[in-house]
Order: sequence, then C-alpha cells, then structure tokens
Amino acid sequence: MDRKKFLRLSSFGLAAFPMPLFSKSVNKPIVISTWDSGMPVNAAAWKILSANGKSVDAVEAGAVYIEDTIDCCVGLGGFPDRDGIVTLDACIMDEHANCGSVAGLEQIKHPILVARKVMDTTPHVILVGQGAQQFALQNGFKKESAELSESAKNAYKDWLKKNDYKPEINIENKKENGPFAPHFFEDGSPNHDTMGLVAMDVDGNLSGAVTTSGMAYKMHGRVGDSPIIGAGLFVDNEVGAATSSGLGEEVIRICGTHTVVEYMRQGYSPEAACKKACERIVKRDPKKAATLQVGFVAMNKKGEYGAYAIQKGFVFSVKSNTENQIHTSKYLL
Ligand code: GLY
Repeated sequence: MDRKKFLRLSSFGLAAFPMPLFSKSVNKPIVISTWDSGMPVNAAAWKILSANGKSVDAVEAGAVYIEDTIDCCVGLGGFPDRDGIVTLDACIMDEHANCGSVAGLEQIKHPILVARKVMDTTPHVILVGQGAQQFALQNGFKKESAELSESAKNAYKDWLKKNDYKPEINIENKKENGPFAPHFFEDGSPNHDTMGLVAMDVDGNLSGAVTTSGMAYKMHGRVGDSPIIGAGLFVDNEVGAATSSGLGEEVIRICGTHTVVEYMRQGYSPEAACKKACERIVKRDPKKAATLQVGFVAMNKKGEYGAYAIQKGFVFSVKSNTENQIHTSKYLL
C-alpha cells in the first residue's frame, strides 16, 4: 500500500483492522447432524466443542454415542444384509483433509473409532471387510457376537418370507416415533438412518463423521455412500463441510458431499448448495428420483448451515451457542 493511501485509511482507523471490522461474526462452535436422532449426538459432540475441544474429537464423540445407543440403522444393533450379517460403514475427516474409513466391518462395536485409527495411524484412507476387522483386532478392539439384536432378528425373519428388497422413500422417518427414538415400523420393515454430523470448533476448524449399518437387506459386500469420502462426507476447511443420508448409490453417482462443498466454494449458501446437489440427482433420472430419498446437510466457514432433500420428510439437528433444535429440511419433489 502506498504511503498516501495508508494515511487516508489510517484516518478512518481502517489500516489497523482491515477486514474483521465489517465482517459478520462466525457462528462457532456449532454442530449439525442428520435426523432428529442427531439431538443427543449433538449433545455428545457439544461437550467437547463447549470445552474448546477440537471438532474432530467432537464428531467422533457424537458418532460413538449413536453407535452405542440406537438400534436398526447404526452399529451392531442394526439390520443385517440379505445374508443375515450386520456390516458397518463409517468415516471421519478433519480440517487438514486427513481422513479414515471402514466399510463392511463385522462384529466391531465402534466402526467410527476404527476409522479414526485408520486416519491417525496408517498411510491409507479406507479399509474394508476382513482387512478392516483384522486391523481393528490388532489395535485392541474386541470381537463382538455376530448374533442379531432381537428387533433385527424378527425383522429379518419377516423379510426372508418375501425376500424382496426395494429402497423406500423416507424409510428413515416414516413412523412418528418422536425425537430421539430409534425408528421402527409397525410392519417390521427395515429402517435406515445414517448418522452424519459436521462441526466447527472454537478455532474455526471443520470436521465430520458418518456411521451406519447401511441399507437393510443389501447384498453382502455392498458399500453405500457413508464411508466414501466425497460421497457421504466431505470437509474442506477453507470452504465448508457436508454429509448425506438416503440412498447411497445415488449420492455416490454425483460425489454428493464434494459437490455440495464445491457449490459453497462458488458462493452458494449451504442450503442452496444442498439443493443444487439434489437437483443433479433428479436431473440425471427424474423417474427414478421420484422413487427415492436423499438428503444433504452442510455448513460453511461462517457457521451458517442448511439442508435440502429430494422428498419431504428429512429433518436435521443443530446445536450452537444460540440454538438446540430440530429443523425440517426443504425438498424438491
Ligand atoms: N446412505 C447410507 C447408505 O446408503 O448406506
């Protein structure tokens, strides 16, 4: 800056504080999660965020909480694949683009902690199946029983009678169970409720985590969007972070959460970015999109957040210094 310009700015007191003087303050710390079951997940993450902890530890704590508590769709209480086996997917990503992921993990209670171990201690990003389990056991995780939870056993028995898998719209939210309750259906049909969360800590750093048992009655070996970085979760600490829920195959086809973050990079708000990603899925195959659900939630570097879904029924949970509530997502169709 030349001397004359500096003096001119100084006389307005601008040179000493060039930017922050007029910029809106950042809403931090903050955590947002998919679904209403995200409320207690946010509370677990908030314990860390409110104590000035790191966002990566906060999202891990949120994922651990839900793996411990919910049946049907996350953790070992989840519904099995078509061979009657529960296989778990999870991933975690921090502000440095460090990431770790496991897919098709069997008989390990906390896939998110194994994903974190992959991130922290290996040169790799994704471990799958037997290899992921071997890595977990070598790192002190305990092998749990392969037996299905009571509810999963009953639902699976019923499913075997028809042996017919069709993804259902809003299967996550079909029955009004009330906040925080696991989502079960009267007819015993599978529920599918991926838990994804993204957070910003007091230092303004973003992280995210996802954990799920995937779609009930999927083919053995099927991997959804949840453990795929850029599909079920993406974090770019310069721009924002996003996570997804719904039919994973459709999210993978458009690199869903990476797409959302790239739209935010172009200047779209989190909600508008999520909407644009939903529109891409619909545009690719409108007829098919009418039969499925995908929802995205996103946050930018200002701590602004938003969501969008293809169909009605998607909700998400937000916790910050000023709010603690469930929001209903807008939708396209
Ligand atoms: N969105 C989770 C899955 O498709 O498995």
